[in-house]
Amino acid sequence: MKNFTLTLVFTPILLLASSDGYEVYKKNCSTCHIETISKNEFVKNISTMKAPPMIEVSNQLKNQIMIKNDDEDVHKKVVVLFIKNYIDNPNLEYSLCNPPAIERFGVMPSKKGKLNDEEKEAVAEWIYDRYEGVQFK
Ligand code: HEC
Repeated sequence: MKNFTLTLVFTPILLLASSDGYEVYKKNCSTCHIETISKNEFVKNISTMKAPPMIEVSNQLKNQIMIKNDDEDVHKKVVVLFIKNYIDNPNLEYSLCNPPAIERFGVMPSKKGKLNDEEKEAVAEWIYDRYEGVQFK
């Protein structure tokens, strides 16, 4: 019974502490990175786009960031770390974006100080998980 009470007391606190990645995306990223679109539609509407679609960003990072042992948990951690770092320090040198896209959109402006660590973690994990098995094509 005691345990039960503890769970009841602590659950709301845990819920408060973890940010919702999708909400973070909508608030901070969606004005530039559209959530999902086909390649065809993207090319047709490129004049209205401010950045690569998030589906492409996710696919690209997952394909280009490789780790030695094929462990999915480790891979996710590395991709998430890359995204968290990129939010604060976007940089031509680190960008895995293809050159024509960079030429078209420029380098992403830094969001340093705008998101706390939890929000960065949540949005980075969302970017990884949202497009599991979904290809930009
Ligand atoms: C003002 C527009 C803008 C906003 C807002 C924005 N981005 Fe970007 N982002 C860009 C552009 C432009 C690029 C492509 C050029 C580059 O790689 O820097 C990009 C690229 C990226 C990349 C790919 C880097 C790579 O190497 O392929 C990641 C990851 C990324 N953004 C994450 C985010 C996240 C997460 C947010 C929200 C917290 C966000 N962006 C908000 C404009 C934006």
